[in-house]
Amino acid sequence: MGRVAIVTGGSRGIGAAISKALKEAGHQVVATYGGNDEAARKFTDETGIETAKCDVSDYEACQKGIADIEEKMGPVEILVNNAGITKDAPFHKMTPDQWNAVIGTNLTGVFNMSHNVWKGMRERGYGRIVTISSINGQKGQFGQANYAASKAGDLGFTKTLAAEGAGKGITVNAVCPGYIATDMVMAVPEKVREQIISQIPVGRLGEPEEIARCVSFLVSDDAGFITGATITANGGQYFA
Ligand code: CAA
Repeated sequence: MGRVAIVTGGSRGIGAAISKALKEAGHQVVATYGGNDEAARKFTDETGIETAKCDVSDYEACQKGIADIEEKMGPVEILVNNAGITKDAPFHKMTPDQWNAVIGTNLTGVFNMSHNVWKGMRERGYGRIVTISSINGQKGQFGQANYAASKAGDLGFTKTLAAEGAGKGITVNAVCPGYIATDMVMAVPEKVREQIISQIPVGRLGEPEEIARCVSFLVSDDAGFITGATITANGGQYFA
């Protein structure tokens, strides 16, 4: 019998690939999304995976969203914190709004979701949390002071929760994708993107499914001895 799994930002990009992989592994998946109702409806039509609107940057929305899912489907045993945004700008041009929005979604959002499943996971003595960080949280990136800080924060958060969850049957891990062929990366100006691709030793962008397979393994029962880990999947662009 599959477990109940939430994938935040699970209807598009890397998140959609993760949702599909977890469904294929037999789990009951809910893909949450921030605002794009039409993309979510289309995703459900195509995949049969349920979607639920939930702004991860809003603590109360997460609390309510998770309570609704648990009432309908049972306890959440797998949480994949995938929802993330960019608001790139060189630091001298970065506004407080750009800083707060990115930290609010990419870091506080991970707190908001994890905090609302943590108590139940501890009580039941089982849980799997995987957070999608980034190569740029490991190495920094021109134009991404906000994003790199949020993704580096996700790694410290992951290691701390791993320490606290280990005795309670909860594993907490992170995956750091490099540049993956998604809308987010396609939004980078073409010239900059080409320059980035030239720095990837395997000579191409990654595929969302390549990240989804990492997540699928980490949330499986087979990965019970792996916690506090960071899997880097970046085509050799950076060795963390
Ligand atoms: N290193 C050094 N200098 C750089 C640079 C770099 N990587 N990139 C740009 N510059 C320089 C330019 O040469 C230019 O220099 P001059 O002023 O001397 O001409 C200057 O910075 C550009 O200044 P602009 O005022 O034109 O900058 P801008 O306001 O147009 O912003 C930017 C530029 C938005 C930051 C743009 O460079 C950019 O989009 N960079 C890519 C950022 C990136 O990698 N984002 C990743 C998105 S995908 C993602 O985040 C997923 C993931 O996890 C990997």
